[in-house]
Amino acid sequence: MNSSEPTPLIYPSSAIRHLPTHLAIIMDGNGRWAKSRGLPRTAGHKKGADALRRTLDNCSKAGINYLTIYAFSSENWKRPSDEISDLMQLLQHYLHNELETLHEKGVRLRFIGDLSKLSKEIYGQLEHAKHLTERNKDFHLTIALSYGSRQEIVHTAQKLAQLVKDGKLETSQITEELFSQSLDTAGLPEPDLLIRTGGETRLSNFLLWQSAYTEFYFSQTLWPDFDKADLDSAINDYAKRERRYGTSSE
Ligand code: FPP
Repeated sequence: MNSSEPTPLIYPSSAIRHLPTHLAIIMDGNGRWAKSRGLPRTAGHKKGADALRRTLDNCSKAGINYLTIYAFSSENWKRPSDEISDLMQLLQHYLHNELETLHEKGVRLRFIGDLSKLSKEIYGQLEHAKHLTERNKDFHLTIALSYGSRQEIVHTAQKLAQLVKDGKLETSQITEELFSQSLDTAGLPEPDLLIRTGGETRLSNFLLWQSAYTEFYFSQTLWPDFDKADLDSAINDYAKRERRYGTSSE
């Protein structure tokens, strides 16, 4: 190194190694938050949208670059139609109100799930948001909508089987790598940390393939209350863990 160049800052390697690059969140507890206040479930979802804005900001400040959120599962279609339409409206408002700001902040938006089930209007909004932000690189927000991981895996298997049937792919070419790159999440790193709020301790059909080596953190906090202190607790807990990917610690 040229002696006139400034000495580079040396960070403790653990500080860098232990910050999650990709955080996934199951935002649970909106309904209970509302119920405990005698409010309709929609009020919980609205507060949930505020918690999302706040968390995105806090992730970005903390140095996390990828956030993937479970906003609407394939099973959520079984909820009462009023609640479904409230959730869809909330999504539309969120995109309408936030898109420009997100774009200015360099956020790239992606949507995963069976988007064909959404209304044409919403689908159009999602396509617009995706295209507008596709060159952004500062932060990657992925919203899972009408998403079910088993469905995603089956759909991927069907796509690859069709390629084999059409003579475009050999079965021996179907590797873990190709499979990963054929999922809805193609191009995203696997989540390092997955947080579920609301006290439940299950995955509920979210990112089953992608979370093979993900660390899990279950928080008692209901999603609308999830704040910087909760995020910091999860990040600090993650920082203490040793990720071995099946190898031994020695
Ligand atoms: C789970 O809580 C939450 C959902 C099914 C919806 C998540 C949606 C938001 C946070 C709204 C904001 C999202 C966007 C993209 C604008 P629940 O209703 O199952 O809560 P409960 O377990 O307490 O009943």
